[in-house]
Amino acid sequence: MRSKIVAGNWKMNKNAAETEALLTELAAKLPDTNAQVMVAPTFVNLAGAVRSLESSVIQVIAQNMHFAESGAYTGEISADMLLGIGVETVILGHSERRAYFKEDDAILAQKVKAALDKNMKVMFCFGEELEDRKSGNHFNVVESQLKNALFSLDASAWSSIILAYEPVWAIGTGETASPEQAQEMHAFIRKTITDAYDASIAGNVSILYGGSVKPANAKEIFGKPDVDGGLIGGASLKADDFVAIIEAI
Ligand code: PGA
Repeated sequence: MRSKIVAGNWKMNKNAAETEALLTELAAKLPDTNAQVMVAPTFVNLAGAVRSLESSVIQVIAQNMHFAESGAYTGEISADMLLGIGVETVILGHSERRAYFKEDDAILAQKVKAALDKNMKVMFCFGEELEDRKSGNHFNVVESQLKNALFSLDASAWSSIILAYEPVWAIGTGETASPEQAQEMHAFIRKTITDAYDASIAGNVSILYGGSVKPANAKEIFGKPDVDGGLIGGASLKADDFVAIIEAI
């Protein structure tokens, strides 16, 4: 079911004590909202975060996972390990994973399947690079990212998918897609899903925008009809900024 979501991707930031401090502040300042609020601390701080937020509505989600159930994959984390500490949603396909760790569509398709097989929810990230936007190829890139990683899923799997459109040129750069650019792409994403599946699946999936969302621009972006919330990087590391973004929805 389509819902409003504001999620904070903390990336490789905050040690255990800092994680605890930020979560305490966030839980205390959390405004009344219909939106689901999620935070993604680093792996080593996930279990502590779940414990700290036991009595809060804030959900703890993971930034990544491996596709294998278990085995000789040094340094990796499986779906069962996440579920074992109470983490039921995982971000997959973030552009930093694609760029720095060479996660391509084929690997991501495996990861998505592995998470869904374990009844986890997937927040799937995708988006074009600056050259794609400049050459007018951005719609093709987004369509192929969706098709290659998601369109072989059964229709029933889509109730466990959240999409996060994150144009790479807007991530951590201070440059944001305009609300019109976000809306245009989100509408295109829904049309692409309608063509591949049907209008009900397209209408029910939550599509978040990510890329330099901050208190100053959140309201305008979230005001667009096909934007269901945001995946927030830098601005999620300060409680007051993240709270202001939640208030904007
Ligand atoms: P940013 O990151 O808000 O710092 O641009 C967004 C993201 O990478 O999810």
